[in-house]
Amino acid sequence: MSRLEVYEYPHPVLKKKAEKVDKVDDEMRRFLDDMLETMYDAVGVGLAAPQVGVSKRALVIDAERDDEGKHAHPMYFVNPEIIWKSEEKVVCEEGCLSVPGQRAEVERFEKVRVRYLDYDGKEREILAEDFLAIVIQHEMDHLDGILYIDRISRLKRNMLLKKLQKERDEAKHGEKAK
Ligand code: NI
Repeated sequence: MSRLEVYEYPHPVLKKKAEKVDKVDDEMRRFLDDMLETMYDAVGVGLAAPQVGVSKRALVIDAERDDEGKHAHPMYFVNPEIIWKSEEKVVCEEGCLSVPGQRAEVERFEKVRVRYLDYDGKEREILAEDFLAIVIQHEMDHLDGILYIDRISRLKRNMLLKKLQKERDEAKHGEKAK
């Protein structure tokens, strides 16, 4: 397995609608393994293919991962589709490896039923609730070129992006001073 580079806002690949995966073959499985390793390494709970520069409809999730990055319950989703969503919505604070260091409250459906292909290419369905439902919706947005910051008010987004830029500038200057 190898670690992949995580692309950050505003890289154009993050804005693209990703393409369907033709089939889950060994090459795809290797890629899913690499994505999972990359996600654990970055201490994330989810990672979508466009975030590593691959515009394909695939993502990995471990919503039970603890802070030591333990491999609690890895899940693989290829060509996921939401086939049902609850009327109830929830608001939860989200972050994203492609928007490092930032967080904001986002509204999501409380429950979603998702149809997808698993690691072996078998069609499956899952009723996701609670935290898993939020992570799935966040990662599936990536496949449509949507970041969580696209789902908050313009005012909040501008503030968040300003903070991101400031932190990036500071990190750059810190490196120069070394
Ligand atoms: Ni994300």
